[in-house]
Amino acid sequence: MNTLLLKELEQAAGKNYVFTSSIDRELYSYDATKERRVPEAVVRAVDAGQIARVLALCSRHGIPVTPRGAGTGLSGGSLPMCGGVVLDCSGMNKILELSPQHMVAVVQPGVVNGALQQEAARYGLFFPPDPASLDMSTLGGNVAENAGGPRAVKYGVMRDYVLGLKVVLADGRIMDTGGRTIKNVAGYDLTRLFVGSEGTLGVIVEATLRLFPIPEHKAAINGFFSSARAAALAVQRILTSGIRPAALEFLDNSTLKAVSRMGLHVPQGAQAFLLVDVDGPEEVTIRHLERIRSLMMDHEDRALQTHASASPEEYEEVWKIRRSVGPAVHSLGSGCIAEDIVVPLGSIAAMVERTAEIASTSGLYICCYGHSGDGNLHVNIVYDKERQDQAKHAWDTAAMIFDAAIALQGSISGEHGIGMIKLGFLARGIDPVALDVMQRIRRLLDPAGILNPCKALPEPEAGMIPGDAP
Ligand code: LAC
Ligand code: ZN
Repeated sequence: MNTLLLKELEQAAGKNYVFTSSIDRELYSYDATKERRVPEAVVRAVDAGQIARVLALCSRHGIPVTPRGAGTGLSGGSLPMCGGVVLDCSGMNKILELSPQHMVAVVQPGVVNGALQQEAARYGLFFPPDPASLDMSTLGGNVAENAGGPRAVKYGVMRDYVLGLKVVLADGRIMDTGGRTIKNVAGYDLTRLFVGSEGTLGVIVEATLRLFPIPEHKAAINGFFSSARAAALAVQRILTSGIRPAALEFLDNSTLKAVSRMGLHVPQGAQAFLLVDVDGPEEVTIRHLERIRSLMMDHEDRALQTHASASPEEYEEVWKIRRSVGPAVHSLGSGCIAEDIVVPLGSIAAMVERTAEIASTSGLYICCYGHSGDGNLHVNIVYDKERQDQAKHAWDTAAMIFDAAIALQGSISGEHGIGMIKLGFLARGIDPVALDVMQRIRRLLDPAGILNPCKALPEPEAGMIPGDAP
């Protein structure tokens, strides 16, 4: 960035909030994907007015702006792939209001999801979206990526909990969407448009979020199975039993191997694992747990063993294997394509089986685990980054997984977003007319193309959008 431009940036952002030393820029060059890109400058966001000045300036000069929270994203959304400025929103971390009467919280984008959970718990409330990164990830990022988590099977995802937003647009205008009511049909639903827009339509500076009362009781049961198919069939039985679990998580044999390497006990012969969580009045959860145990055990393909929680300590114990998956899988190789495909509920067993087939013929180490209750599976393809041939083979294998999900009427991304990781695959999974409309919306809101460029949507073909050179 030339000195003149840097001076203007310092004027817009405040001199003390602009960082250009190589060490500062290095600190903002990574996220959770194992990919790296160093920005030209870092701006620490302090308020909407400052962000508005920065975006207006960057729009004038065509400087890319990549908004960033805690950098826990798994699709490269916060990496400055086209250079320019990283806008660090993690310092805007105040809970501006928590209203037990309205059952809403108004938060700045840098509030960590877990911090809101803690604050809400003081009022007997909770915030249902629970991405695995909740102790680190920020709500601004959760909104931008439309994050999910294990509880999505019962409670849904971020989009279901965002009632309103304050957003800074690329031209520097500040816009309020929605409000704090549960129902609101006045005008188009711009709030929903911005949730999951991956930092491409504006910078979220405030979110009004819906809170729920904490369920009276929680209980969990896990089970080990002798095959992925047996576990997947148990998933279908549980989902059609009339019980709505609060979480229904699956781990395949490669994932179990990875967690057992971390010292956790996995019984002999176990090739798959399920974890089922239920919440509600205590007598109901006890009854539901018993019924789920029977759905796991009283069948031909029965679980090898199950373990249910009878106390809060045991509850944590039952969850332990699932909670250790992230670090276990992360430590497997220098490269890892972390996918988050999602399929319709009735196709979960088919997707699990298809993944196992692809894994066994690929020769690569592939871990499949995740939110089997809502059809969202994490297929992690491990490879050696130093070996070009392996990287290519890993991506070809990823494409087969994407195609398998699409063939089952699923989607290539359930919760991590497209970012830059899946950019080349989006077009095969969505309607071309829908993609064209998305590109036009993006161009309308960001004519200079500064907001998180090289991400989320492929560039439109030249001449396809009015004003573009043919
Ligand atoms: C999880 C992250 C990877 O569910 O989404 O563990
Ligand atoms: Zn997940």
